Amino acid sequence: MSFPHRHLLGIEHLSPDDITTILDLAETYVDLNRQSAKHADVLSGLTQINMFFENSTRTQASFEIAGKRLGADVMNMAMQASSVKKGETLIDTALTLNAMHPDLLVVRHPHSGAVDLLAQKVNCAVLNAGDGQHEHPTQALLDALTIRRAKGRLHRLNVAICGDIAHSRVARSNIFLLGKMENRIRLIGPPTLMPSEIDQFGVEVFEDMGEGLKDVDVVMMLRLQKERMDGGFIPSEREYFHRYGLDARKLKLAKPDAIVMHPGPMNRGVEIDGTLADDIHRSVIQEQVEMGVAVRMAVMQLLAANLATLRETA
Ligand code: NCD
Repeated sequence: MSFPHRHLLGIEHLSPDDITTILDLAETYVDLNRQSAKHADVLSGLTQINMFFENSTRTQASFEIAGKRLGADVMNMAMQASSVKKGETLIDTALTLNAMHPDLLVVRHPHSGAVDLLAQKVNCAVLNAGDGQHEHPTQALLDALTIRRAKGRLHRLNVAICGDIAHSRVARSNIFLLGKMENRIRLIGPPTLMPSEIDQFGVEVFEDMGEGLKDVDVVMMLRLQKERMDGGFIPSEREYFHRYGLDARKLKLAKPDAIVMHPGPMNRGVEIDGTLADDIHRSVIQEQVEMGVAVRMAVMQLLAANLATLRETA
């Protein structure tokens, strides 16, 4: 298994082979996670620190469970209660933790680029758990694994990514990943929620759900990221749901076997109809959460193996 990376900071710099390596290894963990005894010891003796400077439910829980199942000592830093509150900078905090010799540092931060910066200052492997509007690589990888399992392949699919693209690191990482694997990507949403650099993405853009959803294999809905908006992006939530919310009627435009995805947390009745989100015949939202643990186990195993080699040769 070759995975020539020290950190996982984004999808942008991964190759299609890197992506396949992660997904293939993750498959073995899907099986392990379904057994009653879920332990492997590939991270035994290693220390994993989770630093979440932004709220998170599923991503933090998923990284914690993944580390524990692989035998690492996992510590969750309560960033709200830490010295960050007292004005310590991100880098000072990272250097302090670095002095305790962690092996894996999992970081979520509200500013794009903050995790890359931190990775330059520490001598462990850094995993980006979401930085601002930039990237959320493990989310795109777990989405890819979910799609590959549901569709039997991860290429030549028509994938619609819908809603608040502009503020979404999930969308950016998915655009990189699905593009590298040669899928056709459509972005659907109001012009106010499209990123300015859209021309560089090699995607088709639609303002109308009716046109955009036609014959797609995968419909990926995104949360309206209200915390990243300073007003004026959408008329009202009711109007937004009417035009861009996914419900059974709009889904009929997609292929009959199209799957529905959402990274969570969902705003039911805003970007997605609650009944559709819970429909196990169409929605793979719970599978996405399940795949998240397996993908994070795989990535941490690959990075830990590289770290061991780097330290031997140092
Ligand atoms: C996403 C995130 O934090 O970027 N959630 C997640 O990690 N599951 C998406 C979101 O917050 O809308």
